[in-house]
Amino acid sequence: MKKYILITFCLFVFGHSNYAQTKLDVVVEKKIDSLMELMTLEEKVGQMNQYNGFWNVTGPIPEEGDASNKFEHLKNGWVGSMLNVTGVEEVRKVQKIVVEESRLGIPLIIGYDVIHGYRTQSPIPLAESASWDMYAIKASAAMAADEASAAGINWTFAPMVDISRDARWGRVMEGAGEDPYLGSQIAKARITGFQGEDLSAPNTIAATAKHFAGYGFSEAGRDYNTVDVGTSTLYNTIFPPFMAAIEADVKTFMNSFNVLNGIPATGNSFLQREVLKGEWDYQGFVVSDWGSMAEMVAHGYSKDGKAAAESAANAGSDMDMESYLYVKHLKILVDEGKVSVDKIDDAVRRILRVKYELGLFDNPYKYCNEEREKEVIGSVKNKAIALDMAEKSIVLLKNENQLLPLKKKGMNIAVIGPLAADKNSPLGGWRLAAEDNSAVSVMEGLKKYKGNKLHHEKGVELVKGKEAFVFEIDINTTDRTGIAEAVEVAKNKDVVVMVLGEHGFQSGEGRSRASLDLPGLQQELLEAVYAVNKNIVLVLMNGRPLTINWADENIPAIVEAWQLGSTSGDAIAKVLYGDYNPSGKLPMTFPRNVGQVPLYYNYLSTGRPTYPGDDLVFWTHYTDEVNTPLYEFGYGLSYTEFTYDNLKLNTNSLNKTGELKVSFDLSNTGKYEGKEVVQLYIQDLFASITRPVKELKDFRMISLKPGETKNVSFVITPMTLEFYSANNIWESETGDFKVFIGGSSNTQLASDFTLKD
Ligand code: BGC
Repeated sequence: MKKYILITFCLFVFGHSNYAQTKLDVVVEKKIDSLMELMTLEEKVGQMNQYNGFWNVTGPIPEEGDASNKFEHLKNGWVGSMLNVTGVEEVRKVQKIVVEESRLGIPLIIGYDVIHGYRTQSPIPLAESASWDMYAIKASAAMAADEASAAGINWTFAPMVDISRDARWGRVMEGAGEDPYLGSQIAKARITGFQGEDLSAPNTIAATAKHFAGYGFSEAGRDYNTVDVGTSTLYNTIFPPFMAAIEADVKTFMNSFNVLNGIPATGNSFLQREVLKGEWDYQGFVVSDWGSMAEMVAHGYSKDGKAAAESAANAGSDMDMESYLYVKHLKILVDEGKVSVDKIDDAVRRILRVKYELGLFDNPYKYCNEEREKEVIGSVKNKAIALDMAEKSIVLLKNENQLLPLKKKGMNIAVIGPLAADKNSPLGGWRLAAEDNSAVSVMEGLKKYKGNKLHHEKGVELVKGKEAFVFEIDINTTDRTGIAEAVEVAKNKDVVVMVLGEHGFQSGEGRSRASLDLPGLQQELLEAVYAVNKNIVLVLMNGRPLTINWADENIPAIVEAWQLGSTSGDAIAKVLYGDYNPSGKLPMTFPRNVGQVPLYYNYLSTGRPTYPGDDLVFWTHYTDEVNTPLYEFGYGLSYTEFTYDNLKLNTNSLNKTGELKVSFDLSNTGKYEGKEVVQLYIQDLFASITRPVKELKDFRMISLKPGETKNVSFVITPMTLEFYSANNIWESETGDFKVFIGGSSNTQLASDFTLKD
């Protein structure tokens, strides 16, 4: 087969980017040269050292390096960055120490996990991804940057661009789901939102593409577990969002806790030197994950801390987050000839470059403006941005007999469930700077509509005992006493709104689950209420796909509301009452059974894909469950109906310089104005490696009034068809393709074309 190597890897990575022009500013590089000439080796190593702001957020603090030590190190110029120092007052304090007391006064870069908002919380990233709305996602990231920068922060450890196909993994809440194309678009939206047009502006912050790489593929969905993936999965599924991040000029990368094919990511030269800084020519810097350098000893990869520092530095980890190993060993390793000065210089240059780009050398206190801090953080404007994002993130999963939207007047509504009045869980798991219990609850949101009577009962508790951020929450609740009261309240009501799902800290880092069912006694509560009143609207709040087969079979209306942040209840109420017509689509497959996981739409076809008939069992299936998901990737309903018609290709044959136009009619055949995310998938029928049965390649949001039809078109070029082939390059291969158009990955509306020389 003839390969189009012409449309090379470079084009794929940098084709749409202005990265090549912006990457090295001669003036900045000269300034870095002059500064580096003044720096001692200790001071250079200092730039590669990052300390936590004296608070144990996500991991144990290593025994060495206590707080007083850190102050000394700041004064000596042995610290290049701090994380978890927040608020203008605190940031000014630490910045002042290095600027005024260290020999060269090189400002710190201040990092923080601004994952889905700072004080004002947007929906969790998985929820935002369900919007498929890149403008809203970008605006949400820009809002987060606005608030974080007003609190003195100039660097976020976001976005997490790890693709994951495993809902058991708690960190799926923090990503964009299972698809590399959607994940790439979202990575770009988030990065451009955080970094803005001008990184040196006081309201923009540097972003981080994390975790490089493979972290979302931890075996059995257990956090920190081993990752073992082949070349095709690595390049075709895991890498694309990282490549898109570079295209969006992301300033930093973070490596990951996992081993990738036997080698810890932090000590992995293939990932960091060969691919990232080599093939992709990345000019930003790489920060380790929290303590991941020291963990290479536990991995059985480095015999001690010194060996870990040596591997990490040689492999291209530029900054040590909280392992204390660079500051301790790196100078000695250079003196012993085990790490070259060139490698140190390269790392320091990368770190200084980002500091220059942030404008920290012009004014180290530029993010320290008390007035701005008061004005911006938690502002009305920011709440409005979060609300817009929250409405767009909701996915309507089922709506039998048009139970939704609810009538605004004259109804008696029971609002039942442990999450109905919860003001904390909607904030999600990554809300370090949010105030506890500050979200608008569903009850509060519904109460703003005055025309109906509301009756609330919790039914069951979600967790036993006290909630805590760092520690495990106990979901083994046994108290059934509230169920009878809930059932009593549900009787004779016009509608029951049940708000069930996961506690806000049940997903996130270190929060993997072996079951995807509704936790605790919630299923029992749901069935007990259903026995007395079938008119149920189930509102789900969760950080990952759940297995809700019983609900799907029995409950007439189901709304996926994730964890929607500060304005959660307002967004949910607007959707339930029809003031916002839901438009979200699932970014991740909902399985029927946890045993199907990993389950994803873009799987490779097997040699035995279909039932051969005659009761033969020798095909790819389970004996106790069907293969299909409960809700597929890309799925989501609206209060109106959309139909797809007249799929046409302007040609069935595409050549290497050509393009092909796919067009179709989208009609709103229902009663409401609505938005539909139209999706384009392709299938490469035969290739040098087996290709997915469907791959998302484009999508667009179309708004239509009732009765309206629009002709929609997409363009396919040979670049659309590229993948990392058996030749270990990005290329498209001649041959036959299918193109699918529809409102979810399950669409069968298709046409064929051929790619020719
Ligand atoms: C997480 C990172 C995070 C870092 C700093 C780690 O435990 O894996 O994603 O940025 O902590 O808080």
